Amino acid sequence: MSTYQVNDTVGAIVARRPALSRVFEQAGVDYCCGGKKTLDQACREKGLDAQAMLATLEQHDGDSDDETYVDAAAMSLTELADHIEHTHHAYLRNEFPRINALAQKVASVHGGNDARLHDIYQTFQALAFELSSHMMKEEQILFPFVRRLEASTSLPAFHCGSIANPIRQMEHEHQDAGVALERLRTLSDNYTPPDWACNTYRAMLDALARFELDMHQHVHKEDNILFPRAIELEAQLTAAT
Ligand SMILES: [Fe+2]
Ligand SMILES: [Fe+2]
Repeated sequence: MSTYQVNDTVGAIVARRPALSRVFEQAGVDYCCGGKKTLDQACREKGLDAQAMLATLEQHDGDSDDETYVDAAAMSLTELADHIEHTHHAYLRNEFPRINALAQKVASVHGGNDARLHDIYQTFQALAFELSSHMMKEEQILFPFVRRLEASTSLPAFHCGSIANPIRQMEHEHQDAGVALERLRTLSDNYTPPDWACNTYRAMLDALARFELDMHQHVHKEDNILFPRAIELEAQLTAAT
């Protein structure tokens, strides 16, 4: 019997073997916001053969996880929340001003050649603004409650009611970010520079492509690992109280 089945969810496959996210990235299959879909469903939506995808996953099952693919499923919830803050949130806070400056410069210098460069700048600016506020909500409200849940033997009081409420809001914001990232990919012809692109233009596309990849990993760790485990822990504490 094969390791993976067509009715496994895409998110569960990546939670089990983080390196397999590369296979999904390459095929354009969304394993973060779309992680709750089964492999069969995700493939059908992309016009891919699920059996062929299963074979590819099996083939890459032994690929090693490099240092960027941590085993998030093996961490405690507190460790995972800390990891997300120290790696993904820190990365975004570092990159936002740099990408913003690159996109602004490219739009102002080359926007006359390709008007989509203005759209790229505006879409990026709006997304960076939304994500900054999103990260603040996670860091100030949701993640501290996740840590308290893990440290408690009975259900702690939470001003948002159930943890499912802020989680639903965060998942909704992840979906919106996913739409904006797809728009950036489309506007930039899949991050492909035209022949005439200068180094700043190329650096912007490279930074945007890395930003997208990091966001996929980041959202996957939250939507498919941290959030469902926090909901489960809350339910266990509720039952024990
Ligand atoms: Fe986050
Ligand atoms: Fe998030």
